[in-house]
Amino acid sequence: MHVLVTGGAGFIGTSFVRMILRDRPGWRVTNYDALTYSGNLENLSEIEGNERYSFVKGDVRDAQLLDEVLPGVDAVVHMAAESHVDRSIMDSGPFVDSNTRGTQVLLDAWRRAHGVDRRFVYVSTDEVYGTLPLEDKNALFTEETPLQTNSPYSASKAGGDLMVRAYHHTHGMDVVTTRCSNNFGPWQFPEKVIPLFVTNLLDGKKVPLYGDGRNVRDWLHVEDHCEAVLTVLEKGRSGEVYNVGGNNERSNLELTHSILSIMGHGDEMIEYVKDRPGHDLRYAIDASKIKRELGWEPTRSAWPGALEDTVSWYTENRSWWERVRSGAYQSYYETQYG
Ligand code: NAD
Ligand code: TYD
Repeated sequence: MHVLVTGGAGFIGTSFVRMILRDRPGWRVTNYDALTYSGNLENLSEIEGNERYSFVKGDVRDAQLLDEVLPGVDAVVHMAAESHVDRSIMDSGPFVDSNTRGTQVLLDAWRRAHGVDRRFVYVSTDEVYGTLPLEDKNALFTEETPLQTNSPYSASKAGGDLMVRAYHHTHGMDVVTTRCSNNFGPWQFPEKVIPLFVTNLLDGKKVPLYGDGRNVRDWLHVEDHCEAVLTVLEKGRSGEVYNVGGNNERSNLELTHSILSIMGHGDEMIEYVKDRPGHDLRYAIDASKIKRELGWEPTRSAWPGALEDTVSWYTENRSWWERVRSGAYQSYYETQYG
């Protein structure tokens, strides 16, 4: 099996590439990535030289390059995307371009290379469902929940998601889509809330908590997500969508308190800042379909142990995050209000 992973130099992509090489001994992986600000080959330094691994610096919007690369490939796992909500608020153009149009260009190239029979997995997000109310604790996103995007990021991901659906319906392409909740773990770009807060604290800075901190996210360890994507690639039913979640809901305030407590700080390190515009209140996933049909469930996300391990990783890998956040990097809060 030869899998091409788009976005394989990003946070989830690097974890996925490592997992394939570790857990699927007969497989080959091509990592196809444009190396935007969040793509970092340093994250994969330990597999450089592995003869089952190759890297192609390429953009998913580059049809010509895709036509050269895709013919020898058995399956595509499409993870490449502009991934940060706050950046999409500042400038949504690159999001539509990479996430929606890029997915269409890649689907067309995949169909040119192999017709409709080879598998294409689209790594979507639970954010395409919009938001749940805080009041109704039992409400969950299911695969039947209508797509009601609220941020330019989620709208651009939904554009790709719907394009994938359309290529199955219209052309009969073998596609499967995953919609996953918030990931955490090592090698996450320190603009996302967990690595941002941990690295701020390691630098003696306060953590910028948006609004009143009541917004809720469902936290899943990145390796659990990668295991789900691998399961869907191998066993998912063509044309289906599978929700992926950790059943691990935390308000941002609870999350912040956990991080502060693990790192030995108190509430004085919280800086309540202006809320994110359009901030979705609550994401929560019904992941019963993937468990029932494919037997997947999270095994690495147990709280607070998995969070403690993640904090330790950033504590021990200061040189990594200092390098990735050097140069032009500023958090959204600093850019907007700092
Ligand atoms: P990331 O920003 O860390 O990585 C994205 C990768 O895509 C980078 O390596 C970047 O260089 C590459 N890329 C961006 N635009 C590209 C283009 N036009 N052509 C080729 N490569 C390009 O993001 P992530 O957190 O690893 O997310 C990966 C995927 O998972 C995304 O599709 C995202 O929507 C989805 N997802 C993320 C989460 C999460 O919590 N991080 C949750 C659910 C779904
Ligand atoms: P984020 O990691 O950006 O993921 P997403 O927006 O895709 O869920 O943010 C997670 C939550 O943390 C979200 O509710 C916004 C909040 N947040 C803050 O309170 N402060 C911050 O500086 C950031 C980046 C996020």
